[in-house]
Amino acid sequence: MEYVVTTSDLTRKFGSFTAVNSLNINIRQGEIYGFLGPNGSGKSTTIRMLCGILEPTSGSGTVLGYDLARDPEKIKQNIGYMSQKFSLYEDLTVYENLNFYAGLYSIPRRERDQRIKEMISMTLLSGKENDLAANLGGGLKQRLALGCAIISRPAILFLDEPTSGVSPTSRRLFFKIIQSLAGRGTTVMVTTHFMDEAERCHNIAFISEGTLIANDTPDNLKKTAIRGCMVEMEIPGALNGIQYLEGLPYVRECSVHGSMVHALLDACEHIPDLERAAGVRASEITPSLEDVFIALARLNRRQVKQ
Ligand SMILES: Nc1ncnc2c1ncn2[C@@H]1O[C@H](COP(=O)(O)OP(=O)(O)O)[C@@H](O)[C@H]1O
Ligand SMILES: [Mg+2]
Repeated sequence: MEYVVTTSDLTRKFGSFTAVNSLNINIRQGEIYGFLGPNGSGKSTTIRMLCGILEPTSGSGTVLGYDLARDPEKIKQNIGYMSQKFSLYEDLTVYENLNFYAGLYSIPRRERDQRIKEMISMTLLSGKENDLAANLGGGLKQRLALGCAIISRPAILFLDEPTSGVSPTSRRLFFKIIQSLAGRGTTVMVTTHFMDEAERCHNIAFISEGTLIANDTPDNLKKTAIRGCMVEMEIPGALNGIQYLEGLPYVRECSVHGSMVHALLDACEHIPDLERAAGVRASEITPSLEDVFIALARLNRRQVKQ
């Protein structure tokens, strides 16, 4: 199996604080690799190390066969990277921004025009070539930043929360472009808080407080990450009742989703007890990815405290 990214006990400390703790991950070519976790869990720090921007404190890793510690320059030249705070030249047009990045990556002049056209078509910016970047809406800006990040046709693309702060329609469009890139063999590592995007990843790594706590396909995570029995109940105004439910001995945790409450029980045999205690019907459900992440994050916090 060909891995485009490998890490071995990759660790980054800031002073005495460990932001990324002995991370071991492998990413296959052409995979959309979702990297999830609460704010401050170490996602951006990991991506910055993988992009050759930030030196690891200990451990090692390779990207496209280049060593993180020895060849960060080679890595920077060969990857695409779009951070949450991507930078465009606001006073340049769409075309001029792409042309600038084409120059930065030393794309031969005779190929540039063709390459820029390709990016404009791929990022659905046709007709906007002469618009100033400053005048583009959020979604279009993000797609232009993506075009700039992939104009060198990198084999791997790192996207750090690329779709935060844009409309749902723009997010879906953006993710479609990611999927088509992956379909052509580009490997994509992407961080996101959106479950619909996480669902579309081939693999999801979940990190909490710098530590990898789950790593599998979305389907497998839903099947195996939660041990116990997940049920759903309709309880309008549930926030008040949830503490009572969580106090029941066989209820591990509850979460509120509008008027629905999801409760994780030790086992499904407790459903009748729960129904009696709550006064409503409870039916077993397959956990959603969101349920999985809520459970994983809580589980980890509890282990850290002990
Ligand atoms: N340059 C830095 N100096 C000190 N602490 C940092 C630095 N960069 C990140 N951190 C800390 O490391 C932790 C992980 O941050 P980050 O990787 O940005 O998390 P995420 O991207 O998952 O939100 C946070 O507690 C953050 O405050
Ligand atoms: Mg971040």
